[in-house]
Amino acid sequence: MSEPTRVLFVCLGNICRSPLAEFIVRNRAAERGIDERFFFDSAGTGDWHIGNQADARMLRTALNRGVDMHAHRAMQVTASNVGDWDWLIAMDENNRLDLIDMGADEEKLLMLRQFETDNPDAPVPDPYYGGEQGFEEVFDIVLRNADALLDELSASD
Ligand code: 4NP
Repeated sequence: MSEPTRVLFVCLGNICRSPLAEFIVRNRAAERGIDERFFFDSAGTGDWHIGNQADARMLRTALNRGVDMHAHRAMQVTASNVGDWDWLIAMDENNRLDLIDMGADEEKLLMLRQFETDNPDAPVPDPYYGGEQGFEEVFDIVLRNADALLDELSASD
């Protein structure tokens, strides 16, 4: 069997959006029976939370909706490891520009919402400084985009 395709989800802190995307997309890949074709992980462009668990609000929202993220520990994507991935999936435009600054290959760089028919240019909004509703919204956005993203990753696997 060939090596798994390496997919890194990227946000700012790696404690809210990108770990949720990692866990939801991995779970969906398992449900579709294609998880063994992929290695999923997530990272932040910032270094503030390295080694930390996901934000307590994100953990709680996810667990209430059936996704257990307790195993997550935050890590940072940098110029020295950005080339280790077959695909980088950014949550917003700042993440995308930061990854390009690090030397990411733009042909390997996708946006989490880019396959969303109604809203392909929209970001996954940063919920960190807002209320609980923002975490629910992030969950909804990632969940409704997981299949289209997996379709794309599978097609170019
Ligand atoms: P995330 O959210 O990028 O979705 O993990 C954030 C987490 C932490 C900070 C900003 C956004 N922060 O400024 O510490």
